[in-house]
Amino acid sequence: MLDTFKGASPAALDAIREEMGVRRTQELFLLFAMGSQFDHLIFQELAKLGVYCLVADPASVTAEDVATLKPIGIILSGGPASVHSEPPPFDSKIFDLGIPVLGICLGFQMWAKHLGIRVASGHQQLSVHNAIMHAQNLLLADCPTEMPVLQSHGDEVSADGRLAIFATCDGVVAAAGHRHFYGVQFHPEVHETAYGRTIFENFCFKICGAKDRFPAQDVAKQKIDELRQQIGDKKVLLALSGGADSSTVAYLLKHATNGASQLRGIYIRGIDRPDDEAFVHRYFGNQDWISLVIIDATEQFLEALAGKTGMRDKRIAMRSVYKPTLENQAQVFAPEGDVLIAQGTLYTDICESGGGHASGARKASIKLHHNTNLGFSFPEITPLADCVKDGGRDIGRKIGVPEELLVRHPFPGPGLVVRIEGEITREKLVMARQLDEIYIEELRRAGQYERVWQAGVVVTQSQHTFTKGDDAGSGPVIAYWAVNSVNGFTAHAARLPDEVHDRIVRRFGNEVHGIGSIAYRMSNKPFSTIEWG
Ligand code: XMP
Repeated sequence: MLDTFKGASPAALDAIREEMGVRRTQELFLLFAMGSQFDHLIFQELAKLGVYCLVADPASVTAEDVATLKPIGIILSGGPASVHSEPPPFDSKIFDLGIPVLGICLGFQMWAKHLGIRVASGHQQLSVHNAIMHAQNLLLADCPTEMPVLQSHGDEVSADGRLAIFATCDGVVAAAGHRHFYGVQFHPEVHETAYGRTIFENFCFKICGAKDRFPAQDVAKQKIDELRQQIGDKKVLLALSGGADSSTVAYLLKHATNGASQLRGIYIRGIDRPDDEAFVHRYFGNQDWISLVIIDATEQFLEALAGKTGMRDKRIAMRSVYKPTLENQAQVFAPEGDVLIAQGTLYTDICESGGGHASGARKASIKLHHNTNLGFSFPEITPLADCVKDGGRDIGRKIGVPEELLVRHPFPGPGLVVRIEGEITREKLVMARQLDEIYIEELRRAGQYERVWQAGVVVTQSQHTFTKGDDAGSGPVIAYWAVNSVNGFTAHAARLPDEVHDRIVRRFGNEVHGIGSIAYRMSNKPFSTIEWG
């Protein structure tokens, strides 16, 4: 199967024909990935609708390639570039082929600029807004006259006599059309946009005239079959964290390997949450299908992190311990070297690290994740690399991963390193662990743990004066947070009941030595990321 369409080479055309044969369809959509963090969500939305969508590289695909391929619709994603200062690579003759185009955010601005419509700068909208519908139109058919949409843009398409304006958000053009061009300034691919799937459905079926829907595939079975082929009789060493993703990979591997002599899990202690190791023991210790090794790398982590204060440097230091620890254990497990290293890497991790759909468009590198581009000296398997969080959990549910593991809050691979500002010391690690333990315990006690998607506490570098008894001193500001999300691409600050805040703050103050003050973080993603750094 072709991953990214880079041009109409005979090999690419053969692969596409083959896939269309399997799907028994003549209908194809091209998604030009313009570097958006959300491009894979668009891809997934189309997959859920059952249409065949191919990701296309805007830097190499020409109008001739598109004419050869004859897609029935073209989608241009958003991206970090601006049509003014750094026009993204794209053969604008593609716009003149007459194929229906749906531009999302930057994609909308690109076709507008191509038509000579002004794209204005400077009016940022970075949150959920209410879109008000102005005219009946096919793109927003079956959507209500007012609906919440996620805006995340700095530039915007100006109202222009040539545009049929379908909807606005606080006076900004939110959705519009002109001949075969359709555009939305907001992001229909994210959960916050209430009628996003309806909009994609309208574009594909009402505007582009698609008729075929390919039945949903059994993704879990497909992944297990692929793993069996990849693994053969080699051994597999899996990095286990006690979280949902690596646990799901463990269960996929359970079905693709032949027991504990072929599959080994490794848990690395040192920068982990207080209860991670217990979860790993409970579910992966003493099993006949997986053997378990626990490595205490606390000293190595502290040594690598000493003197590092910037988040990126600390992430790199964490990787410098994580990678050789896995490689050494792979060598121990299979001295003859016939071994694969498996990780629970998600598409989100790859995308935020600046990777993702192979395209020449600029992508923002938000943060370097611990489990991407490590360049192991052993082959690597990452069966969830095309999934985001909710998709990974769905697969886990299908193959019997215990619910208790699936509903655990996500936790960043670099562990408490990203929850401590400044240099990581033994004392700060103890403090971060104590805070996490109290916070999670109180959320569970109040029945809030399952109601929020993720929660954490950060030991910041800001110092705050405290008085205790008649004495005074200063200590770090502690920032705790909780978010609701579906897949981590976007998130909303969770509202916790006052009495829960009260109890948490009281326990932090009473039980954790040396805290200066306590704050609750309220910003959403966008614009803040979920983790501090
Ligand atoms: P951000 O902070 O980027 O986080 O909004 C999105 C989700 O990813 C988790 N996260 C990480 N996970 N390695 C990981 O495995 C990392 O380096 C990393 N950084 C963030 C984060 O906890 C959230 O669930």
